[in-house]
Amino acid sequence: MSNTRIFSISNQKGGVGKTTTTVNLATALAALEKNVLIIDLDPQGNATVSVGLKRLQGGKNSYTALTGRYHVMDCIQKTLVPHLDVVPASQELLGVDIELADVEQPQFFLKKALGDLTNYDYVFIDCPPAVGLLTMNALVASTNVIIPVQCEYLALEGVADLLKTIDRIKRHFNPALTIHGIVLTMFDGRSNLSKSVAHDVRSYFKDLVYETQIPRNVRIPEAPSHGKPVMLYDFRSVGAQSYVRLAGEVLKRERSLLNG
Ligand SMILES: Nc1ncnc2c1ncn2[C@@H]1O[C@H](COP(=O)(O)OP(=O)(O)OP(=O)(O)O)[C@@H](O)[C@H]1O
Ligand SMILES: [Mg+2]
Repeated sequence: MSNTRIFSISNQKGGVGKTTTTVNLATALAALEKNVLIIDLDPQGNATVSVGLKRLQGGKNSYTALTGRYHVMDCIQKTLVPHLDVVPASQELLGVDIELADVEQPQFFLKKALGDLTNYDYVFIDCPPAVGLLTMNALVASTNVIIPVQCEYLALEGVADLLKTIDRIKRHFNPALTIHGIVLTMFDGRSNLSKSVAHDVRSYFKDLVYETQIPRNVRIPEAPSHGKPVMLYDFRSVGAQSYVRLAGEVLKRERSLLNG
């Protein structure tokens, strides 16, 4: 059996920091010389662009890998970050919900596609903001889920539904699926609302929430327009440093999960 850990970064709510977390956590782990692959499963293709590539239309991409038209190994591209590769997104992903609606076991396509992918320590799947077949495929193929939660009003809207979906996937398709953690994003220490949301999420989900919270930092939205993860765009920024810390915490949690 392969030791590759597969993480879905998921929350059906839009704009909560899924892509930012995928790209920057993956980059921080790659900087620690882990071999990491990002699979951009969002038709928006933001993760693809954030690591300096173009969203594809046709050719070899996450859509053709998912549907089995090409072997996933043939759809992998190198990024400018050593140890970090990506399977870019394609607009064709938009059609997956309809295309796979009538096939048998449509939730298992990605799992099958990733079956013999053994040369990575970590795979990060950037999910779209919806619980359709793309997210289902990601969760069925994954060992773990990381849930970004934005420190804003209605932060938990969507999380309850996601937890139900995860539960259903565990029962029917992927019993080993585990929530690795919840990461609080866009935390603003000057805002009482942001602090109170962070406090509420921590008191409700307790140890599931990573200690590291990602602050609101202008360098983070700037970085993708330069086609770079924030660690390469401005390593010293608090945004970059928070993802370095989060990577350390993820690895620490990995060790404690492994030990029992
Ligand atoms: N810590 C942060 N500080 C400031 N801006 C941030 C931070 N994290 C994310 N952003 C910005 O917020 C927006 C939404 O983030 P992101 O694209 O990562 O969310 P998402 O959950 O992937 O969105 P979608 O649901 O559309 O896929 C982006 O413009 C991003 O650059
Ligand atoms: Mg996104």
